[in-house]
Amino acid sequence: MNETHGPIKLTQTVQKGGCAAKVAAQELRKILSKVTFPPADPSVLVDGAHFDDAAIVRVSPELALVHTLDFFTPIVDTPRLFGRIAAANALSDVYAMGGEPRTALAILAFPLATLDTGVAVDVLQGASDLLAEAGTSLVGGHSIDDDTLKFGLSVTGDVHPEWVWSNSRAREGDVLILTKGLGTGTLTAGLKRGAWDESAISEALESMGTLNRLRDLLTVDEWRAIRAATDITGFGLAGHAMQMARASSVSLEIDFGSLPVLDRVFDSLREGFLTKAHRTNREYTAATCSAVGVPDDRLPVVFDPQTSGGLLLSVDKSKADPLLAKIRSRFSRAARIGRVVARGEKDWVLA
Ligand code: CO
Ligand code: CO
Repeated sequence: MNETHGPIKLTQTVQKGGCAAKVAAQELRKILSKVTFPPADPSVLVDGAHFDDAAIVRVSPELALVHTLDFFTPIVDTPRLFGRIAAANALSDVYAMGGEPRTALAILAFPLATLDTGVAVDVLQGASDLLAEAGTSLVGGHSIDDDTLKFGLSVTGDVHPEWVWSNSRAREGDVLILTKGLGTGTLTAGLKRGAWDESAISEALESMGTLNRLRDLLTVDEWRAIRAATDITGFGLAGHAMQMARASSVSLEIDFGSLPVLDRVFDSLREGFLTKAHRTNREYTAATCSAVGVPDDRLPVVFDPQTSGGLLLSVDKSKADPLLAKIRSRFSRAARIGRVVARGEKDWVLA
């Protein structure tokens, strides 16, 4: 409407953006430890106990439902892109359990006093475009008038109960594969500070807006070679790798030099574009991880909070090479980043 003001920059309307705004893991554990939860029904196959990505509820011997939800404040400036990324991020937890998303409900908190409603239209359109790619229906939602914009989805998917991936089945000898490049946290922190515009971090934006879907790419055999999976989000590679190691009672060895890293990320870290989550993720994992010989100015990439990050897969070693080749046909940054070893003193070791 008012052309002289130029397009609204969403990141300038909020204090923190994306998964970097997550409640820190230690704080969350403290809160949850004080709550008495209702007893779980026997049909609940996976709940929140092991920090899995989504809940799984068995409906019949052939069918289980996957439930998850995610929402956050703007991580990018363009409303349509924000909607797309928020939707990809929410669907990711269904893919991380081996499921296919079927329906989604929208969660929208919108500052009617300060933003034009056209922004809400664009956010919802960005999400809808992504849902169309995923073959997922938008079946409703809830909105409130709030001080800051927040958007996300509650997603229901389905999966065969025997096809469920969890973070608890990584086995000694497995190969670790990461499907997307790291660094969305520092890059979007730089965007928010005005150090660069969206065009300078286009690789990161495209990566965050890409579905974590693998099902249509792999054969049944290849699918079964994936023993454990999780998506890398707010707790960074360090936090999610630690959770996988603990849930599976193994340790992980990660080769720092083989980690896929998005364009400009090390420059961005050197510039000091960090979030609170860089610090809290480091604190959360410090005691149980060790990093040897990794340059100090590069190390923070493993603590970088990812929004709509890639899948970390623990894969049967004998199938790892053909599997990685197939995954690379869609995810160009996908890489073999390490291996699963017998449970040692540390959850994971970086070298
Ligand atoms: Co997740
Ligand atoms: Co999540």
